[in-house]
Amino acid sequence: MAISAEIKEKLASKQSSMIRAMFEAGQELKKQFGQDAVFDFSLGNPDLQPPQEVLDAIGDVFREEIPGCHGYMTNAGYETTRAAIARKVSAEQGCPVSAKNVVMSCGAAGGLNTVFRGILNPGDEILVSAPFFAEYAQYCGNYGGKLVPVDCREDFSPDIEAMERAITDKTVAVIVNSPNNPTGAVYSDADMVGLVQVLKRTGRNLWLIADEPYRDILYDGAKVATLFDKYSHSVIVSSFAKNFGLPGERLGFVAVNPVAKEDGDELVAAVIFATRSLGFVNAPAFFQRVIEKAVDAKTDFSVYEKRRAALMKILDDCGFEYLRPKGAFYIFCKVPDGGDDVEFCDLLKSHRILAVPGVAFGKRGYFRLAYCVSEQVIVSSEKAFKEVAATLNVGN
Ligand SMILES: Cc1ncc(COP(=O)(O)O)c(C=O)c1O
Repeated sequence: MAISAEIKEKLASKQSSMIRAMFEAGQELKKQFGQDAVFDFSLGNPDLQPPQEVLDAIGDVFREEIPGCHGYMTNAGYETTRAAIARKVSAEQGCPVSAKNVVMSCGAAGGLNTVFRGILNPGDEILVSAPFFAEYAQYCGNYGGKLVPVDCREDFSPDIEAMERAITDKTVAVIVNSPNNPTGAVYSDADMVGLVQVLKRTGRNLWLIADEPYRDILYDGAKVATLFDKYSHSVIVSSFAKNFGLPGERLGFVAVNPVAKEDGDELVAAVIFATRSLGFVNAPAFFQRVIEKAVDAKTDFSVYEKRRAALMKILDDCGFEYLRPKGAFYIFCKVPDGGDDVEFCDLLKSHRILAVPGVAFGKRGYFRLAYCVSEQVIVSSEKAFKEVAATLNVGN
C-alpha cells in the first residue's frame, strides 16, 4: 500500500523508462570498460555550451542586486520576461503576440503539463503523430487524458488523412512536434495547412499544440512552419533546454495565439492556475532574468551538423537505412531485415553502442541515435557499428 497502484504499474513497465534504463546501462558499461570504450547515443542531453550572450547574461544577472529578485512573483512569470518572449514569438510567427499571451514554465515539460491540466477532462483524447516523445502519454495520463498515436507516413511526416479518421468526440487537441524527436523530421508548411483544414472541418475549435523545444536546430535550409497565422486555437510550448543548451535550468514558456480571443484568455488563465496548483508556483526566477537579456542569442549548431554528417557516413558505410534528419539531433534508423528493435538494441549494447528502441516512441522496427555527443564518440563508434553490421550481414 506504500505507493499508488497506478504508479506501481508504471514503474514496473519497462517501456516507460526505456531511455533512462539505456542511459543507466551506459553508466555501468562506462565504469566497467572506461568512458572512451562506450558509445552512448541514448539520451537527448545537449552537450553544447550555451551561446556567449547567455553566459554573459548569467554573469550580469549574478552581479545585479535587485531587492526581491529571489522572491516569488506572479505565477505567470516576470512581465518583462514574458514581453521578451512575446517579441520572439511574434517574430517567429509573423503576427503580434503580447506578454499577456505568454506564461513562463519549468521547461517545455512543465509547459505541456500546465496546458494538458488546463484543457483535459477525464477520458479526453489528444492525437499525436507516431513515433513521438514518449512522455506525452505520461503527461496526458496525469490528468485522466489519453494520448492517441496515429502512425506517420513513410517519410515520418504526419498522415493527415489518418489523423482526420482518428478524431472522435473525445478529441480535444492535436500535438505536433517539429523538429521531431525521435525522427529529426521537420513538418512541411503544406502538411500544417492540411492539418489545420482538418481541425477547422470539425467546427469544434480543437487545440493545436506545437511542442517546439528544437525549433532552432535545423539543417539543409529547413524551416519550421508558422501556426498562429493559420489557426486561431494554436498554442506554442517551447524551452531553452535544447535551443540554448540549458536543459537543467528548466526554463520554458507557453504562448497562446491571441486570435483565440476569449478561449485563448481562458486557456492562459488555466495555464497560470495550473502552474500554481501543480506546485511549480513559477518558472525559475534567475533564468527568467537571464533569458530576458539573451533571448535573441544564437547557438552555433554547425557542431551538430558536423556530427550528423559523421554519423550518417558511418551508417551509410554499414548499410543501415534511415531518412536524413532535417532538425533536432536524432537519427531514427530502420532495424535491418525487419528485425525486432529491442533485440537489436541489445545486440548494439553488446558492442557497447547505446541506442533506444523504436517501441519507446511508439514505432517498432526502428532505433534512435542521439548525436548530441562528441565527434570523438561518433568516430570511435565506427568499428563497433561495422561489427554489428557484419554480424547481421547488413547490405549484402
Ligand atoms: C519533444 C520533446 N518535448 C519536450 C521535451 C522536454 O523538454 P524540457 O527539457 O524543456 O522540459 C523534450 C525533451 O527531451 C522533448 O524531446
